[in-house]
Amino acid sequence: MFSSSSGRHKNVPPSPWKLPFIGNFHQLYAPYHRSLWNLAKKHGPLMLLHLGSVPVLVVSSMEPAREIMKTNEFAFLNRGEIGILKKLSYNGKDLALADYGEYWRQLKSLVVLHLLSNKTVQSFQKVREEEISIMIDNISDSCGLVVDFTELLLSVVNNVVCRVTLGKKYTDKRFLKLVEDFKKLVVLFTVGQYIPCLAWVDRIRGLNVRTQKVAKEFDEFLEGVIEERLNSNKEESARMHQNGVMVDQAKYFIDTLLEKQKEEGGGNFYMDRDTIKATILDMFSGVADTMFTTLEWALSELVKNPLVMKKLQNEVNTIAQGKPQISDEDLGKLEYLKAVFKETMRLHAPAPLVVRASSQDVKIMGYDIKAKTRVFINLWALGQDHEIWKDPKEFRPERFLDSPYFDYKGNHHEFIPFGGGRRGCPGINFANTLMELVLANMIYKFDFNLPGGEKRENLDMTDRIALTVHRKNHLLLVAGPHSKP
Ligand code: HEM
Repeated sequence: MFSSSSGRHKNVPPSPWKLPFIGNFHQLYAPYHRSLWNLAKKHGPLMLLHLGSVPVLVVSSMEPAREIMKTNEFAFLNRGEIGILKKLSYNGKDLALADYGEYWRQLKSLVVLHLLSNKTVQSFQKVREEEISIMIDNISDSCGLVVDFTELLLSVVNNVVCRVTLGKKYTDKRFLKLVEDFKKLVVLFTVGQYIPCLAWVDRIRGLNVRTQKVAKEFDEFLEGVIEERLNSNKEESARMHQNGVMVDQAKYFIDTLLEKQKEEGGGNFYMDRDTIKATILDMFSGVADTMFTTLEWALSELVKNPLVMKKLQNEVNTIAQGKPQISDEDLGKLEYLKAVFKETMRLHAPAPLVVRASSQDVKIMGYDIKAKTRVFINLWALGQDHEIWKDPKEFRPERFLDSPYFDYKGNHHEFIPFGGGRRGCPGINFANTLMELVLANMIYKFDFNLPGGEKRENLDMTDRIALTVHRKNHLLLVAGPHSKP
């Protein structure tokens, strides 16, 4: 172990040249996963940047990723200083941002066991099927017309997440705008977090006022939803009591959380209202966005690569055997579909930068890393590595059929779209079940073309950084009934 107080004999990772005061900020531009990779190509797969006064370790290949997520996992279980997000996440009480410790451990185990277990994910089959039927009807009604599939996919994912989390859909404009405002703030860059003496810039930009306003409005909305659920649960249990029969009621996340609050009050983990609201907010910030953007890229790649589309449609037709809809039970047999999603996430990692922070001095690849160093693991760069992936720019799902050991569990650090280890994503099963079902049903029913007879190879695939990495331009397509062979 080396001393963090003396910088003289340390072996620090390579860094690009930096300017006084702002450090390496001038070398970064959006989308950041690409500019970070360009710097890494010159300075190596483990590179130290300085963003203002904050040291940032950038990881762009498998070996250092493994050392951080596995070999030295316990030194990197925090997310680090969260700045403006503190106000938006009930002081970092949500699972994704909470510091590693007893609170995080208890909340993660509750989420894994009670909200996102295989059994719970299965119990939402009806919700998924209903929302997918609505989506299919909407596409059928617009056959032959240009449809904005970005909006359509966002809507089906939002509706499922809303119903599963809150018990019903909230489609009024005020709520949707609030969600959008929230997401915009989450990705906003705050100067004060990196250069504390420039915190006044954020105030002048009106950032603090905007954050407070959105946090307050979201809080009021969630309070209203909680009260509504509490009342409807009282009515429901009174009705059950009167009739003396059990009603098979779906357990939405909010109901489970309220139930756990009652059970666990007084124990060493007291789940207060803020924990409930922060947990729900996680669903509306990252969760819906990651699934919708993966679907958007998967459909884009299929339209651009007609041979892959044909192969996938053949697989789905064979498994469906003329049934009206693909259901949960069919998913296990759709191996090529799974390979299509893996290839999509390799090329378009929805959350390309996993953020961690070191909690102690530690050695990575022989370099000395100080405590409180921010870490960005560039998942997108891992998917571009020529040493691992042959022709990495090509969309070729077969590579995953040839290498079935690449799963989502985070054991193979060249492919970790859901992160890995203790801090890894708990929503893998939830996400894959929904995404696979949406895509399988879409391509089972429809064929897709670009508007105005545009050639498929001309489909623009430029990306844009938002909360996750989206298409820059919305995906506009013309659907028609799928002509089965
Ligand atoms: C395509 C879909 C998704 C992708 C690509 C994705 C990716 C990720 C990644 C990269 C992380 C960081 C992991 C790490 O630090 O090692 C993460 C964390 C997380 N994800 Fe997901 N995710 C997806 C869907 C979901 C869903 C559906 C849920 C819940 C319903 C979810 C809930 C979470 C939570 C709560 C965390 C924080 C875990 C912690 O800090 O302990 N995600 N996700």
